[in-house]
Amino acid sequence: MASFGRTVSTAEIEIANAVTDEIVAAFERLIPQLSSSSPAPTRDQLAAIVEDPFSVLYLARVDGDIVGSLTLAMYQIPTGLKAWIEDVVVDDAARGKGVGEALSAAALEEARLRGAKDVSLTSRPFRESANRLYQRLGFQPYETNVYRFKLR
Ligand SMILES: CC(C)(COP(=O)(O)OP(=O)(O)OC[C@H]1O[C@@H](n2cnc3c(N)ncnc32)[C@H](O)[C@@H]1OP(=O)(O)O)[C@@H](O)C(=O)NCCC(=O)NCCS
Repeated sequence: MASFGRTVSTAEIEIANAVTDEIVAAFERLIPQLSSSSPAPTRDQLAAIVEDPFSVLYLARVDGDIVGSLTLAMYQIPTGLKAWIEDVVVDDAARGKGVGEALSAAALEEARLRGAKDVSLTSRPFRESANRLYQRLGFQPYETNVYRFKLR
């Protein structure tokens, strides 16, 4: 796995291959720490991610407990394979120890192996820890206008 010049986290990173009660409970704990407006995913929603060949759901464990997650989302378009890092979250009690870095490194490696030429993400400026993390890993600002059409 790529190293980014920082103390390597003791977290173990794994890919979720099946949805268990433990994973559902972990997302109920983690998602409120990421978004105040999005509910935690249901078991079926998590299963849809796990079964999607273009999505990879990562879990980070410390001492066996799930303390973080990241989803690598990919899709094919005429100009190539797009890869996005989404929904990165580490439990408040486990932050600042490289867990977010370890999750990101795993996703970058997978995207590289699958042939993506780059990996994108967005992070609002108020997310200071996240912006600091991504820049430390080598993500560079990409100038574009991001538009969103609200459907509900
Ligand atoms: C962003 C986030 C995933 C980073 O996870 P992490 O495991 O703390 O990541 P790392 O340990 O690799 O460090 C990331 C940065 O967090 C900050 N940090 C350091 N100690 C910290 C602590 N005790 N608590 C919180 N943040 C800390 C630092 O800026 C660190 O960068 P640095 O080591 O260069 O100083 C985590 O803070 C989080 O879940 N935040 C809330 C959700 C969120 O913003 N997600 C990103 C959406 S784009």
